[in-house]
Amino acid sequence: SVYPSQDEASIQVAQRIAAIILDKQAKGEKAVLGLATGATPIKVYKELVRLHKEEGLSFNNVVTFNLDEYYPMLPNAEQSYVAFMKKHLFDQIDIPQENINIPDGTLAPEEVQAFCIAYEQKISSYGGLDVQILGIGRTGHIGFNEPGSAPNSGTRLVTLDDLTRRDASRDFGGKENVPTKAITMGVGTIFKAKEIVLMAWNEKKAEIVKKAVEGEISSEIPATYLQMSDKVEFVLDTDAASAL
Ligand code: GLP
Repeated sequence: SVYPSQDEASIQVAQRIAAIILDKQAKGEKAVLGLATGATPIKVYKELVRLHKEEGLSFNNVVTFNLDEYYPMLPNAEQSYVAFMKKHLFDQIDIPQENINIPDGTLAPEEVQAFCIAYEQKISSYGGLDVQILGIGRTGHIGFNEPGSAPNSGTRLVTLDDLTRRDASRDFGGKENVPTKAITMGVGTIFKAKEIVLMAWNEKKAEIVKKAVEGEISSEIPATYLQMSDKVEFVLDTDAASAL
């Protein structure tokens, strides 16, 4: 769907998430959300916080799994996705701390593989993700699944693309400070979600959105894999949709 503005689109996505939470609540079940970082979902989180504060939406029955985290990364570092999620969502809602899952950037190299397997198993143990929200990087990555990622890839340690590190350089005060690696859910992990919502705003995403939606399906642009699934919705503003 294409919306006139990022604000309207973000409110729609937040309302969809709220509906899932309320539906699960009514059934006495947990809602399992796959969450993303970056500038793109910030207004979705803002609206969820508003729904919590002004309309009493509770996150008591919500379990979350974030897509990715830089590696190595300390959770209390300003650039960590842990810090991002706390700032934009978790510190402002009533989610139980133990329900929050984010890949661990503090692991020793020899611990990473076991952690990734356990992350997959933990998602499955809750019956899988009810919804996964996604942004898109200019390399066509989803999560940190850079070009070359396989469609059935699982949670794993990956090497970041040069363009991705350049795009992140502002947050880190220079590209040389951006970690070279990350732990990310795989394309296969994302695909197992019951619903997938990819959001993109602004002119600068128009070119990659066109490739993702209309381009040939290829590992060169992992977001093109989303064309293979009928449970994916692209939520765009008019600028991001302008090349379609
Ligand atoms: C990072 C994140 C992605 C995100 C992308 C786009 O690389 N790992 O999940 O989609 O950035 O970021 P932004 O939303 O700031 O454009």
